[in-house]
Amino acid sequence: MKYYIGADLGTSALKLLLVNVDGEIIKTVSREYAISYPNPGWSEQNPEDWWNAFVCGVKELISGLNSCDIRAIGVGGQMHGLVTLDKDDTVIRPAILWNDGRTDKQTDYLNTVVGKETLSSLTANIAFAGFTAPKILWMRENEPQKFARISKIMLPKDYINYKLTGVHCSDYSDASGMLLLDVKNKCWSSEMLNICNITEAQMPKLFESYEAVGTLSHAVANLLGLNSNTVVVAGAGDNAAAAIGTKTVTNGACNISLGTSGTIFIANDNFSVDRYNALHSFCHASGTYHLMGCILSAASCNKWFCDGVLKTNDYIGEQAAIRDDMLGCNDIFFLPYLMGERSTINDTDARGTFIGLRMDTTRADMLQAVLEGVAFAIRDNLEIAKASGTKIERSTLCGGGAKSMLWQKIICNVLDVKIDIPKTEQGPGYGAAMLAMVGDGVYDSVAECSKKLVKIQETISPQKEIADRYEKQYLKFKEIYPSVKELFKKIK
Ligand code: XUL
Repeated sequence: MKYYIGADLGTSALKLLLVNVDGEIIKTVSREYAISYPNPGWSEQNPEDWWNAFVCGVKELISGLNSCDIRAIGVGGQMHGLVTLDKDDTVIRPAILWNDGRTDKQTDYLNTVVGKETLSSLTANIAFAGFTAPKILWMRENEPQKFARISKIMLPKDYINYKLTGVHCSDYSDASGMLLLDVKNKCWSSEMLNICNITEAQMPKLFESYEAVGTLSHAVANLLGLNSNTVVVAGAGDNAAAAIGTKTVTNGACNISLGTSGTIFIANDNFSVDRYNALHSFCHASGTYHLMGCILSAASCNKWFCDGVLKTNDYIGEQAAIRDDMLGCNDIFFLPYLMGERSTINDTDARGTFIGLRMDTTRADMLQAVLEGVAFAIRDNLEIAKASGTKIERSTLCGGGAKSMLWQKIICNVLDVKIDIPKTEQGPGYGAAMLAMVGDGVYDSVAECSKKLVKIQETISPQKEIADRYEKQYLKFKEIYPSVKELFKKIK
């Protein structure tokens, strides 16, 4: 039997899947690592922690198997993080992550001085604080000595691929989120590299996600207990990998991911940019393109409220008090901007907010508001996509938050679209394993592989009564942020 390793280098943990050639998940292993918040709104991780998690995790994943049967590895990972290596390939500083908000000054410079139109014409995107280019500018301004030592710049999952193969590589889907790639033409933008004071020699070599970048180095093969002819494919940003793992490949197909972040991902056969540049226009791991909106805190809002505030990790038990007749009737609202917000408001100063609390408000009302607030923020993104003419009648749903039947129902009715639940909610890891299969030649294309392997378990349809109630609630939600926006700047 042939086996494939799919990895999802997430923000809170590395999730590894062992998948056989028929697409069955044989084993999963998860390893958590720390995230540090050295200043309010900053977030960092040590690339060495990712690598240590990968080494321990893979050893556990493959124990008892014949190493010759493991054919290829694909890694999907958190996007946009800035990883810098010096001339000896040593990590210069902790990675600055996708949800780090320290770069508002640099983001502002890019959007106003360089200008949104120029950015959009060079990269198909405007600047958001989480993107990689503003972080490079931040490092140049704030850590000039470290900046001068940079020999290679890469993204989080590229660091794992580099450790595995010795190749400095990236793929088009993940590279799209750096604001350094000419997305339409799939090459580095020399103008953007100039603006950031870096050269193409410092950038990784670009591949399609399903292309092999190399095989394991002998030392790493020995360390992991794998064969040195095990293929490593370029992999993908976690959202593109999740799209592959949920069959979001054909034109107009949509996937919503409820991970630490929340994303709405719309596959596009052709390159396109939305009218307002509010959605990201990126390359897809299948070789085509996609549009995407990203909210910075999704399942992490639930985790924050349950673990941090209610002090329980019984997420599903906690939701049991929220009945169907309560959906769309809550008079408590929650803005889910715990890490500031990217799409659609692009505001690093925004913060989480409860509004409408009363003496008789219960923990269930507040939890319901948290789950609904995330759904409303995703709806904001859907509205932008709809306004640019994209029709979305159904979407798959994946990520940790997708395990909750209540949250599935809330998303379905707030968005008023059919929700398809795939057999596995392991979107990014599963998609990464599929990329490995294509790289190993089992399938001719990503589209063929996902059509064959991804199965939908169940479809949830909106219930008119609930969807109508949510329509009214959404209009109220939309009024909250503009009313408190200016206050966020004062209280920061
Ligand atoms: C997407 C984004 C997040 C991270 C989280 O643009 O920033 O979804 O990839 O892992």
